[in-house]
Amino acid sequence: MKVTVIGAGAVGASCAEYIAMKNFCSEIVLVDIQEGLAEGKAMDLMQTASLNHFDTIISGCTNSYEPTKDSDVIIIASGVPRKPGMTREELVGINATIVKDVISSALQYSKNPILIVVSNPLDTMTFLAHKVSGLPNNRIIGMGGALDSARFKYRLAESLKAPISDIDGMVIGAHSDTGMVPLISKATRNGVPVSHFLTNEQQEYVIKETKVGGATLTKLLGTSAWYAPGAAVASIVHAIACDLKKIYPCSTLLEGEYNTFNVCVGVPVIIGKNGIESIVDIPLTEDEKTAFDNAVLAVKDIYKDLKV
Ligand code: LAC
Repeated sequence: MKVTVIGAGAVGASCAEYIAMKNFCSEIVLVDIQEGLAEGKAMDLMQTASLNHFDTIISGCTNSYEPTKDSDVIIIASGVPRKPGMTREELVGINATIVKDVISSALQYSKNPILIVVSNPLDTMTFLAHKVSGLPNNRIIGMGGALDSARFKYRLAESLKAPISDIDGMVIGAHSDTGMVPLISKATRNGVPVSHFLTNEQQEYVIKETKVGGATLTKLLGTSAWYAPGAAVASIVHAIACDLKKIYPCSTLLEGEYNTFNVCVGVPVIIGKNGIESIVDIPLTEDEKTAFDNAVLAVKDIYKDLKV
């Protein structure tokens, strides 16, 4: 499998690193507009290959898409990250222009790739990817819920004082501080609902910290996070490459599922060799449904800032 990562900043490089570390992919091409950045990160990563036991060939290029020819998967990690105090939504103007441009350029060299959108605001950029690329719905995946669910599990394990491998849980809705819907009613510790162990107050804490997971890190780091976003992308690419049929919540175009039409937002999907193999339409509690519908309205409201 050949994977292109557009944007060799912290998130893009981290995607390349985690994909290479899983050693399932023959080739990764990093692209960036900053002269030498992608080439430098690719070379640095290649010098970890003998230490980390992978055979994936990683190369980099500046502002050129020819080396990305015939990519199976293209990861859109370009654009501006948020600064402390900013919402992801504030990035819509600048990132829409960048995302539109890089998708058009990449598609000149790869005819039917699977796109994984990482740039923010995630759900809006995923919708934009549909408008710009014309690719079938199943070949456009917005990576939001996979990351938010990993952060949810981290907070659950912390509050439960339990090993994280015993925790299962999902976050649907929008990849935004207010639009995330952590499905605590369905979260379990080895099959036991977490409400068996956690008070209402503890559950509220987990939900609150999950929703501001990205903002907490942005405040600490001065820019947005990269390890968990990179790992979440790598897991999705792995599921595509090995046709694993894994379930991740991802942003996808809803056409009636969850009683929602013509909007990209995070819901559970099955990921395999065709990208999104199917959308899993699960029943929600009344509170979850209200939170999900509000997230949809908020995402739709940003579409007016998209000039497509
Ligand atoms: C975050 C960014 C990637 O949540 O949106 O860390």
